[in-house]
Amino acid sequence: MRWWDIRAVLALEKELFPQDAWSKGMFWSELTHSRGQGATRRYVVAEDAGGRLVGYAGLAAAGDQGDVQTIAVAEDHWGSGVGARLLTDLLEHASAFDCAEVLLEVRVDNVRAQKLYHRFGFEPIGFRRGYYQPGNVDALVMRLGKL
Ligand SMILES: CC(C)(COP(=O)(O)OP(=O)(O)OC[C@H]1O[C@@H](n2cnc3c(N)ncnc32)[C@H](O)[C@@H]1OP(=O)(O)O)[C@@H](O)C(=O)NCCC(=O)NCCS
Repeated sequence: MRWWDIRAVLALEKELFPQDAWSKGMFWSELTHSRGQGATRRYVVAEDAGGRLVGYAGLAAAGDQGDVQTIAVAEDHWGSGVGARLLTDLLEHASAFDCAEVLLEVRVDNVRAQKLYHRFGFEPIGFRRGYYQPGNVDALVMRLGKL
């Protein structure tokens, strides 16, 4: 993901996370840490054959821990493996960042995403109560130990 992708990313972000969409500034800030020596972030986009941005994902590394910050695919592309490809890319970069484990939070009611993570070997390790606002929805915390 580069700065020129942010406009298309924000459009998808608002569609897919209407209640807690990230702002332009948040993506800019993440991208600031994604390049050059000492980079701690990996942000990637997926495009269809016509060059339309249909997905994006981001990982932050801190010490030996990676965190999946975001992953999203345009609804008309769900179920065709884009999410899996984005996650594969993040996990490859987690290894390159020397992460020993990768964690993520997912809404307890987001079964589709949980299934994707489960297929990749993520296991539930706990809950964060009321993590998602508004709505006070709990987050399931999942962890992948073997990269
Ligand atoms: C969660 C999300 C990223 C998954 O993306 P996706 O592109 O649909 O993921 P995939 O296509 O890789 O996998 C989804 C399903 O498609 C199936 N699939 C994968 N490749 C396939 C292919 N080539 N042909 C047919 N089916 C396929 C998978 O088996 C999987 O099915 P399962 O969940 O029953 O196991 C997407 O639904 C999304 O953006 N949701 C809204 C935002 C969101 O919730 N993000 C996560 C926040 S924690």
